[in-house]
Amino acid sequence: MKQLAMKKKAIANENHLRRVIWLLPPLMIAVMFFLQLQTALGLFSSISRIVSQPAAIDDFVDRLRVSATFLPLKDTRRHFHEWFISTLDDVSEPEGEAKNLVFPSAASHGRVLCLAAPSRHDGTENAYALAWRDALPSGATLRPGLAFVSETAYDHSNIWHGLTALIPFASWHARSGCAARPDRWALFHHGEVRTRWSGWLTKLAEATTGVNMTIETFDTPEPVCFEEAVVFRRNMAGLSRERLLGAFDFMRCKARAHCGVDVSNGADPSSSSAALRVTLLFRTGGRAFKDEAAVTRVFLKECASVAGCTLTAAHSDNMTFCDQVKLLSATDVLISAHGAQMTNLLFMDRNSSIMEFYPMGWRQRAGGGQFVYRWMADRAGMRHEGSWWDPNGEPCPRSPDILSCYKNRRIGHNETYFAQWAARVFAAVKERKASSSSTAAAEERRREEMTCNCS
Ligand SMILES: *[C@@H]1O[C@H](CO)[C@@H](O)[C@H](O)[C@H]1NC(C)=O
Ligand SMILES: *[C@@H]1O[C@H](CO)[C@@H](O)[C@H](O)[C@H]1NC(C)=O
Ligand SMILES: *[C@@H]1O[C@H](CO)[C@@H](O)[C@H](O)[C@H]1NC(C)=O
Ligand SMILES: *[C@@H]1O[C@H](CO)[C@@H](O)[C@H](O)[C@H]1NC(C)=O
Repeated sequence: MKQLAMKKKAIANENHLRRVIWLLPPLMIAVMFFLQLQTALGLFSSISRIVSQPAAIDDFVDRLRVSATFLPLKDTRRHFHEWFISTLDDVSEPEGEAKNLVFPSAASHGRVLCLAAPSRHDGTENAYALAWRDALPSGATLRPGLAFVSETAYDHSNIWHGLTALIPFASWHARSGCAARPDRWALFHHGEVRTRWSGWLTKLAEATTGVNMTIETFDTPEPVCFEEAVVFRRNMAGLSRERLLGAFDFMRCKARAHCGVDVSNGADPSSSSAALRVTLLFRTGGRAFKDEAAVTRVFLKECASVAGCTLTAAHSDNMTFCDQVKLLSATDVLISAHGAQMTNLLFMDRNSSIMEFYPMGWRQRAGGGQFVYRWMADRAGMRHEGSWWDPNGEPCPRSPDILSCYKNRRIGHNETYFAQWAARVFAAVKERKASSSSTAAAEERRREEMTCNCS
């Protein structure tokens, strides 16, 4: 109790501090503004005389208006992580968050972020400027509320890369006690405007923030200024391990709540520590198993020899977002071929297990990128239990890279190998679940509830 009270007090202090910090920049600007008027221009001897001359104020506001300088959104003189809004340094503030820029802020001298960004092909043609709210560049529109601005060197529409772009915003939103809700999103790739995220990521972002996603399209060349904005321009760089795990916990519980998944009580026997819930998540088309029935039989047989084990086979292609959240919320072991559907692993309870499969050619040719779901499992606090690379198939003799011929091949199976591997993993998970005490589980649920309640 005492700790809780102290924490509340600390939060209150932090909120107070935050309010003070928000107030500082406008005050500083006001002071600077008047100092400049008085010293540099030397036209007036006192503030009261300025106030008595509205025409003079208009004149200065006009001068401020034209003083907003537009610079290329992509500064090619800089490294790609720094070329977006390159004149400002991004910082990991509050501590542990990914490196960000906040507008307005002390660093921006109280100025808001304005973007003139009609190009979807060349970031050097798009531009940004900092301006005071009361003296926006001519023709500019002020968008009320908070904008989440994301620049990535990768691809927002790819689920894996898009998720790494989303995570810092999820953490930021959670950190604010869920107060920082995005009224709009602005997406950039190398300074070029992007207007789409994958449907799955859009749903996840909406479940996470509790508001529908509106993406700024920058259809006109006129500048758009944001009343408030937070910019992440290098994905998760700077995000601490603890905040990263916290962001995954937060997205998991928000998605579960959004989809009506109730994991709060122990009344559901399927979630008890005696159960072992195995899910085969199949792909259709590229990287599908050649013989789904045979693969299902192998794992079903191993599952049958473990008390309390149930196996569900499903195709991710024809499941809604919430179908996927529900299924993975009730999964201890995910068995799936390498592919986007594996990002659903984030909805499993922490410490759950993943078994991954690849077609022939990937092991030798696909490079480090083939391990993204190992990385994701590690980031989300899951256990990647290894991979199987199909050793059989026709080679691609004149194929220099993975994309040309191996990428979307179908995957065979090896009954002996699959059975031995499954037996090992199932036994270990069963053992782990059985040994985790009910108090630890209750504690885990309590932590999840607190996370979800934004406290
Ligand atoms: C959000 O989107 C859903 C579905 O598109 C819609 O039913 C709902 O009314 C929207 N909510 C708000 C607040 O706009
Ligand atoms: C989902 O798709 C798979 C393969 O395309 C099909 O076999 C299965 O019947 C579908 N399930 C539903 C519920 O439509
Ligand atoms: C996950 O496993 C680790 C090590 O086995 C354990 O310390 C931790 O409490 C577990 N976490 C959860 C949420 O079960
Ligand atoms: C299948 O796996 C077993 C066990 O790892 C191995 O001994 C065997 O050679 C494999 N069979 C084929 C056809 O690859």
